[in-house]
Amino acid sequence: MSALSVASLPPIPPAASLQARARAAVDQSRADARGQGGQVAVDDYRCTTRFAQELSLFRRHPQAVAAGQSLAAPGSWLSLTHLGTPLLLVRQADGELQAFLNVCRHRGARLVPEGSGENARAFACPYHAWTYRADGGLRGVPQAEGFPCLKPEESGLQRLEVTERAGLAWVILDPGQSDLDPAAMLEPLISDLAGLAGMQTPQAFAPRSYEVEANWKLLVDGIFEAYHFKVAHRQTIAAMFAGNVQLVDEAGLHRRLYLIKSNFAREQPGPEDFEPRRYGNLTYFFFPNNLVLVQPDHAQFSCIEPLSPTRSRIHEITLIPEAPASEKAVMHWQANVDLYRRTLAEDYALAESIQQGLASGANEFFNFGSYEYSIPRFHAQLAQQLDHGH
Ligand code: FES
Ligand SMILES: [Fe+2]
Repeated sequence: MSALSVASLPPIPPAASLQARARAAVDQSRADARGQGGQVAVDDYRCTTRFAQELSLFRRHPQAVAAGQSLAAPGSWLSLTHLGTPLLLVRQADGELQAFLNVCRHRGARLVPEGSGENARAFACPYHAWTYRADGGLRGVPQAEGFPCLKPEESGLQRLEVTERAGLAWVILDPGQSDLDPAAMLEPLISDLAGLAGMQTPQAFAPRSYEVEANWKLLVDGIFEAYHFKVAHRQTIAAMFAGNVQLVDEAGLHRRLYLIKSNFAREQPGPEDFEPRRYGNLTYFFFPNNLVLVQPDHAQFSCIEPLSPTRSRIHEITLIPEAPASEKAVMHWQANVDLYRRTLAEDYALAESIQQGLASGANEFFNFGSYEYSIPRFHAQLAQQLDHGH
């Protein structure tokens, strides 16, 4: 088995500098393979022990759980479950977003049912009506004389680290990780993404969540190579792209991928005419499971939430520069969403077919070629992080 090196690669260059590498890749008709291929053990995609370790790693890395715009007004709130953890996000009077474990400090009932709302003043627990302020502080305890030792100031909701970047709310789910700074963990890639036009305060369009019968890593693997494009996406987007030519840049554990479009080869833009979003798709991957695919006038966010070793839930939000002002605008965005979903359906059907074959014994390892090098590298980085966590 080849050694999977996780030595660092050069720092991420600005997107505008991709032109020269795109030129070289298209001229030589190959991806700029900056690593080697390698193998990944099939068991890593189905082992329950491994899955439990991965879940605890997920809880230490920022998870984008909502579009900030969906919680724009002071007092707006959102209750959701992510990685099995009940969460409550509340926009404070001063405009700051706060995140809490949505779990009562009395006897642990879920405080707020799933949903969203406005004008939060207080949240009352459905079990014994302990109430909490919008800032998470404990406000009231019915028949409080029964709790002579209770310290209300220490009995507020557990607060989680949260940051808003690129229009998304990123939360660290583990309350024991208050020393982690999600904003710093997303850098420098998040600044590169947020610097793109329309990505500071995008509007959320057509959000949806659905499940796929596949290990989360099969869904991530598919974005790290363009080798499958001409085959798996021949019915949808293959003709729009230049073939097996994808440029990969790393920023710590995160990656920016550039999938070169066929118009780049046709029009041959020089460095001055090169507009990265016109000549390719930029995908921002935030380790371990958040993706933003940037297209010329909008972006598609996906979070891959692992549910079990063989099942994942995908959360998608289309991020558009401003709320659609007409029916025509809605149709424009919807057509983009539909093509994106048709393309992803091709990827996810293949992931499900792979998952079904995993237990067959046909393969002990998957073999990744040089232009798929980013996949075994991701697995090596993941393994390294899992080792650090224990
Ligand atoms: S569990 Fe919430 S008030 Fe008792
Ligand atoms: Fe794909």
